[in-house]
Amino acid sequence: MHQESEAPHGRLADGFGRVVSYLRVSVTDRCNLRCMYCRPVKDFQAISHSDILSYEEYLRIIRLGAPLGLTKVRLTGGEPLARRGFDRFLEQVMLAAPGMDVRLTTNGTLLPGRAKTLASLGLKAVNISLDSLDPENFHRITGADLFADVRRGIDECLEAGLRVKVNAVALRGVNDHELAAFVELARTHPLDMRFIEFMPIGGDTLWEDTLYWPASDILEQAGRMAELSPVHHGDEGHGPARMWTIAGGQGRLGVISGLSGHYCLSCNRLRLTCDGRLRPCLYSDTEYRLRPLLRSAKTSEARILEVLRRALARKPMGHKLLAERRKRGVCLKPMTAIGG
Ligand code: 5AD
Ligand code: SF4
Repeated sequence: MHQESEAPHGRLADGFGRVVSYLRVSVTDRCNLRCMYCRPVKDFQAISHSDILSYEEYLRIIRLGAPLGLTKVRLTGGEPLARRGFDRFLEQVMLAAPGMDVRLTTNGTLLPGRAKTLASLGLKAVNISLDSLDPENFHRITGADLFADVRRGIDECLEAGLRVKVNAVALRGVNDHELAAFVELARTHPLDMRFIEFMPIGGDTLWEDTLYWPASDILEQAGRMAELSPVHHGDEGHGPARMWTIAGGQGRLGVISGLSGHYCLSCNRLRLTCDGRLRPCLYSDTEYRLRPLLRSAKTSEARILEVLRRALARKPMGHKLLAERRKRGVCLKPMTAIGG
């Protein structure tokens, strides 16, 4: 079925006819880690607290989007679990949009002791960033000695019945020697282990060709470590990840090849940055300011919707921007404010 021409009237769609049903919300740019691929090389300038949206402001956008076909919301950061009152916010999102598929992206360090509560509030799935299974290497990559907490967080999520995806940014010379350990994690646990190609995004980052470990290499190497069979994704599509089952294993292995491939044609997402801007494409710094509207008593829902539709009408095909600027990189805003 072609989504392009069959978008029901009123649903959120972009200028290319892509139906937009997935909102990624960065609830803070603060983070307790300093991942080498994420933080700017120079000093990180946190956005001032008064410029960060309040939970109520996020809720207003989610309430507005739900009847227009918004079906999935991902709460991300920075580190979302580091923002005060997050659990209560999650509860309110569930109340504001019953039936919404609400997910969380976290670095996992603050999960221990909280997974059960998150599951009881209605969260179904968690993406946990974990780039190393070796405590020392974890420290080298993230600047913190918190590997054990993340590892415990993963187990607690599985125990709480949450669907778990573990994301590792693939870094040649940094975590490529750990591939066998990652395959083993996926073989012995009911989770999706995904390698994300390192992307030249986030402005002043460390990106360079020598760190790039392409998905094709990862798959070839992993294929020698385990018997992998591709997962055929049904009508619902598969998003950016391609997955493989592991013979005799509980979990699955996958890659997200944002650089060697692209998924712009089926992109269904819109981002809301923590400083209150709509960002139609990760790769383009063109953003649409909502914060002043949200903070003015005179703003009607119709006015907010107008900005939403305007932002979507101009949602680009990001891979073209990436191809043009691969050396310099795309996206100057730090990933922590956009939410990956
Ligand atoms: N390339 C690929 N993925 C990145 N992330 C952050 N920066 C990059 C980058 N340059 C992703 C990681 C991280 C999540 C928050 O965003 O998966 O875990
Ligand atoms: Fe690392 Fe995520 Fe924090 Fe960035 S936001 S420093 S990727 S944990």
